[in-house]
Formats: sequence, structure tokens, C-alpha cells
Amino acid sequence: MAILVTGGTGYIGSHTVVELHQQGLEVIIVDNLSNSKTVVLDKIETISGKRPIFIEADIRDSQALDDIFSEYNIDAVIHFAGLKAVGESVAQPLRYYDNNVVGSLRLLESMAKAKVHNIIFSSSATVYGSPERLPIDEDCALRTTNPYGTNKLQIEQMMGDLCTSDQNWSVVALRYFNPVGAHSSGLIGEDPSGIPNNLMPFITQVASGLREQLSVFGNDYDTPDGSGIRDYIHVVDLAIGHVKALAMFKQSIGFNAINLGTGNGYSVLEMVESFERVNQLKIPYQISPRRPGDIASCYAQPDKAYAVMGWQAEKGLDQMMKDAWHWQSKNPKGYQ
Ligand code: NAD
Ligand code: UFG
Repeated sequence: MAILVTGGTGYIGSHTVVELHQQGLEVIIVDNLSNSKTVVLDKIETISGKRPIFIEADIRDSQALDDIFSEYNIDAVIHFAGLKAVGESVAQPLRYYDNNVVGSLRLLESMAKAKVHNIIFSSSATVYGSPERLPIDEDCALRTTNPYGTNKLQIEQMMGDLCTSDQNWSVVALRYFNPVGAHSSGLIGEDPSGIPNNLMPFITQVASGLREQLSVFGNDYDTPDGSGIRDYIHVVDLAIGHVKALAMFKQSIGFNAINLGTGNGYSVLEMVESFERVNQLKIPYQISPRRPGDIASCYAQPDKAYAVMGWQAEKGLDQMMKDAWHWQSKNPKGYQ
């Protein structure tokens, strides 16, 4: 089987390519390198003993996509390519709609032309906005609060409409909760450019001395310690979820949305304590005002993933902390 992985040199994509290789699958990556580097390909090869085929192209370039589908015999697409910074999406909405929504549209058009009808899409818990109930199951109301979230929802809807129009299509929209950690080799991991927006890379950069202290955004939420609660999931568990989802394509299944989370919520202060304990390091922090747009709590009801594809998260919080620090301490400047 050959799998086309869009955005395959990125954080989650690179971990997924390693897992695909481990299943003996052939991988073709298409990425425009807007947020990743080709050195990732060397690292993937070191880990898995196999180098993915790499094509530098933008998914909005229909000709480039058509060429890929005609050159390779592709069975399914895993679609990671996209811009992902919530704040940036508020400041630059048209760039986000163009890259994420138009990019996905072009990809689906090329797939339709090539009669490739199986796709796994990187969706996000952000489609639940301020969640209707906790834990969040897939039937919770979908209501986004920023352009990035709206992009994800529109792409899901576009894929759902396609499945309604033609029963050959099979779509698995995986709604990720908060991916963290890195491959246990310490060779691949998250390499944010500039000041990290997300909690975990911020913590590891404080630990390595790149940043002075962590700002804890709010200690007055309606949570036991007042700081925000999220469902952190090890990126390797997430990657394995994509391999499991591929097995669903043995028959046409229409549109499926599936949460990928652990079902456990941890607060920001619990994350700090856990990182300090596991890695025997101190994380200086200050309590800062709430970050605009943040919600108090977000964690998954992950049972559907187990029921429909036999997947559940295996790695706990200690492993996430250990692997996140292993990657950061081995690569203080990321892939540079
Ligand atoms: P990432 O930025 O590391 O990877 C995305 C990759 O896509 C990058 O390599 C980038 O160069 C590429 N890309 C972007 N636009 C492209 C385009 N137009 N054409 C070709 N390549 C393009 O991000 P990630 O954390 O690995 O996220 C992967 C996917 O998962 C994204 O769609 C993201 O929205 C989604 N997601 C991520 C998180 C998270 O917290 N990391 C949470 C939920 C969902
Ligand atoms: N936080 C801090 N300090 C920081 C960074 C974050 O206290 O420096 C807090 C936030 O307030 C929040 C928690 O840590 O309570 C997690 O924040 P992240 O930015 O790591 O993650 P979010 O839950 O805000 O968002 C992430 C992705 C989104 C995605 C969402 C759900 O950034 O793209 O998870 O999957 F949509």
C-alpha cells in the first residue's frame, strides 16, 4: 500500500510516517516546507531504516498534486498540511482560509480525478469550541470560536458533503486533543518557530534555559487548582491512531469523526509539577492573566476510537514529560 502524506515533514506527520514505515507501508510526502525542514527526512530514515519519497509542493498547486497521483499508485491520503496557530488565524483569516480550506479543496479535487477516495484528516478538538459537555464526545455541538477552528469545521463539512454525494468516499476526521511529547529516540519532535504558543514546548524551553519562566495563563478558572485543564496525548499514540484508521478503509465507510484523546484532563499546574518530578528540574513560573479565547476545561470521551478502530492511548503523562524533555535536551535549537 502507498500512502500520500500531506504535511509529512511536520511534527505529527513525521511521527506518523515512522509508524507507517513500521507497518511496511510506502510513504510519499508532499510538503511546502512552510513550517518544517528536509532534515526530518534523514531522521525518519535513521529511525525506520527507510526514506520516504519527498515532493516539495504546495497542496494548492493542482498540477503538482495531479502529477503525484498519476506517478504513484496511491491507496489513501493522510492530510496533515495546514497552518495551525489560533492567534495568527484571527489576525490573518484570509491566509488561513486560503491555505487550509482552499488547500483541502484542491486536494480533494485531485483525489476525485485520480479516483482515490480514502482520506484521514487532521481535525481538532477546537471544533467543539467552548464544549457543550465534559467529557467531550463526538456528538457534542460543533461551534468554533476562531478562523482556525472554522477552517477545520468547514473542511470536515466539505468532506461530509462529498461522502453524501458519492458512496465510494471514506473519510476519517481525527479530532486531536493536545498532542505533546516526541519519539523515544529523541531524533524527531516539535520544533516551533519563535516563541511557542503551546504549553509543552514552552515548558521544555524554560527547562533548557531558552526562556526565563512560564506564564500560567489564569488561576481563576472553575477547575480544582484554578488553571486550565486539557487532554494531553503522546504524539506517538496519536501517530498510531492514523495507522489504525487506515484499516477502516477495507470498505467504504462514508464520513466518520473520531476523537483522539486519553480521556484524562490535567491542569497547567499539574503539568508543571509532573515535568519537574519526572525530569528532576525546576520550572519557574508566574501567574498571568487569562489568555483571550481560552476555555477552562477540555478533555475527550475517547470510547468511539476504541469501538470503531480498536485504538486507545497507551502512554501516560510521565512518558510524555520524559520524551518531551529528551527531544528538547538533545536538540536545544530544534532541527537547526
Ligand atoms: P506542523 O506545522 O508541524 O505540520 C504541518 C505541515 O504542513 C508543515 O510541515 C508545513 O510545512 C506543511 N504545510 C502547511 N501548509 C501547507 C501547504 N499549503 N502545502 C503543503 N504543505 C503545507 O503542524 P502539526 O502540529 O504537525 O499539525 C499537523 C496537523 O494537525 C495540522 O493540520 C494541524 O492543524 C492539526 N492539529 C494539530 C494540533 C497540535 O496541537 N499540534 C492539534 C490539533 C490539530
Ligand atoms: N498555557 C499556559 N501558558 C503558556 C501556554 C499555554 O498557561 O505559555 C495554558 C493555556 O492557557 C491552556 C493550556 O496551557 O490552559 C494548553 O494550552 P495550549 O496552547 O498548549 O493548547 P490549547 O488547548 O490552547 O490548544 C491546542 C492547539 C489548538 C488545538 C487545541 C485542541 O494549539 O490548535 O489544542 O486540539 F485546537
